[in-house]
Amino acid sequence: SDRYAVFGNPIGHSKSPRIHAAFAAQTGEAVVYEAIEAPADDFAGAWRAFVAAGGRGANVTVPFKQDAFALAEVHTPRAHLAGAVNTLWLDADGRVRGDTTDGVGLVRDLQAHAAPLAGARVLLLGAGGASRGVIQPLLEAGVDTLRVANRTPAKAQALAALFAGSGRVDGCGFEALEGDFDLVINATSASLAGELPPLPETLFASEALAYDMMYGAEPTVFLRWAEARGARTLDGLGMLLEQAAESFWLWRQVRPETAALRERLRAEL
Ligand code: ATR
Repeated sequence: SDRYAVFGNPIGHSKSPRIHAAFAAQTGEAVVYEAIEAPADDFAGAWRAFVAAGGRGANVTVPFKQDAFALAEVHTPRAHLAGAVNTLWLDADGRVRGDTTDGVGLVRDLQAHAAPLAGARVLLLGAGGASRGVIQPLLEAGVDTLRVANRTPAKAQALAALFAGSGRVDGCGFEALEGDFDLVINATSASLAGELPPLPETLFASEALAYDMMYGAEPTVFLRWAEARGARTLDGLGMLLEQAAESFWLWRQVRPETAALRERLRAEL
């Protein structure tokens, strides 16, 4: 079997080994996939040890996506735009290739749930790495406008400026926000702390979808808040699954089917 892994710190609760084992079983690909906790200050050393032991490719999660970007010798255009890498592999010449599948994963999950995208007014909450990786794919999905709102407004404006050539995107602070949006995506890490960004009451257009990149057995504070204001809600479990499927495709040129697995993962939460 060919060896793959996910690197993170911490990594104990990662669902990626579960997901990739299911992909391998479904497609018949001879793949084994493990979780590796790399030291916070030596991602590169952990990757090299893995490759020396026969590793072929890896996913990379918090806090190593920038380290993985630095380590990759050849980047895809979308990895350059995201400034991050979540998928590494060795090519036929032994070079380390880096890509990011988070953005396409989000868009695929949104499409699978018939989310408003083409022509939609979209609000992205947060201006960190998670936001940066999804802006270009959202613009390419044909959104009408994309507003980035952040606790630190200057970061939202700087991030929006990076993509100004790709579509109608701008940045602001939370206090400057007013509705109404067809799709609101929470990419802040506020949900992790059980916190809610200060959002105006009238944020959602009719039939709006609220999406949280976080997921869990219980809805996040943001999704509870959105549901109480009439929005349809969806958490990030499907994004996790779809980014994994895209990574599997990059490694194996085989595209796993995700719909049935999505239901099973949900039931296991
Ligand atoms: P990630 O890679 O997950 O995006 P990050 O780069 O550290 O992580 O970015 C975290 C994001 O969550 C930022 O947009 C941050 O806002 P600031 O830029 O103002 O720091 C946002 N964030 C974190 N905690 C928050 C909270 N309690 N309320 C609102 N926004 C929060």
